Amino acid sequence: MKKISLTGIKPTGILHIGNYFGAIKPALELTKEYDARYFIADYHALNTVKDPVELTAHIRQVAAGWLASGLDPEKVIFYRQSSIPETFELTTFLMAFTAKGLMNRAHAYKAAVQENAEKGDDPDAGINMGLFTYPVLMAADILLFDSDVVPVGQDQSQHVEMAQDIAQAVNFNYKAELLRVPEVSIRENVAVVPGLDGRKMSKSYGNAIPLFAPEKELRKLIMRIVTNSQGVEEPKEPESSQVYLLYKLFATAEEQAALANRYRAGGMGWGEAKEELFRVANRELTPLRQRFEELLANPAGLDTILAQGAEKARPIAARTVNRLRKAAGLG
Ligand code: ADP
Ligand code: TRP
Repeated sequence: MKKISLTGIKPTGILHIGNYFGAIKPALELTKEYDARYFIADYHALNTVKDPVELTAHIRQVAAGWLASGLDPEKVIFYRQSSIPETFELTTFLMAFTAKGLMNRAHAYKAAVQENAEKGDDPDAGINMGLFTYPVLMAADILLFDSDVVPVGQDQSQHVEMAQDIAQAVNFNYKAELLRVPEVSIRENVAVVPGLDGRKMSKSYGNAIPLFAPEKELRKLIMRIVTNSQGVEEPKEPESSQVYLLYKLFATAEEQAALANRYRAGGMGWGEAKEELFRVANRELTPLRQRFEELLANPAGLDTILAQGAEKARPIAARTVNRLRKAAGLG
């Protein structure tokens, strides 16, 4: 029996290069060795996206994004979170085993409280229960499908650790291995993809390069990457340059070594380094962009793929929920 890999992406905006290297690509890599269950976390997105047209568009974009990046729906169970009602029953179940204090320590919630404090607002301003209980819903996503590994970026590792804590609390109470305790899987060398300004690439920082940006826009954004004021002739340290860090994601080992040598030798300006980055990025992204456009042009086709995935997922989810109901005296 193969082990199980599971991950979700929240459809809250367009996918960017950070999502691709930090989440999608490592997850697809794992499908060679693992049975994979990958989904679109649309109820997680509802916490922030309240416009129905926008939410539907984001869901389809993320679905097309996974497929264009190479997800094979024949091999991977690929579905929308909202198509699995068992998720919500498990969430309620897990609530009873989740310490409120654990939720108080969740990074996303703490950051929102702190932001309010800095503005002098009420600590709870703008915070809905969906944000507060976010890690419980995520634990349900994970624990429902007997996940062994959860490939995510560094920022999500705390949530997976919370899922471990919650699973252990359930197992401890019923003195049985009812829920499989998952491991987090992070690809160290691509753990954080830098954005145009050098901070973590994120749609909330306005520093992202969209994964499916048209060629012209891709080039324009790459030219906007912030660099230091070193002149053309000066030798440059590759590892401290965003341009090089992004280049490494797209380039072969030989290309990486060659560009690093040119940096150190001096005589290459930032403009030239950026042209080189654009060349390798566009080389990898052009076929993806074409598939993405084709998939998006057929929304009914996307919806069918997701519905077929949900049909495969639901019996697995139902088994987990039934096991817990029985163990808890609810069966
Ligand atoms: P954003 O920060 O743009 O809102 P999300 O939080 O929706 O991105 O992230 C979706 C997935 O992509 C998560 O698994 C997250 O860890 C990963 N991810 C997002 N940004 C990056 C990044 N800059 N580097 C690596 N992984 C990232
Ligand atoms: N919280 C994740 C994010 O913001 C998305 C997500 C929801 C997820 N449920 C999950 C990731 C379960 C892994 C496993 O990126």
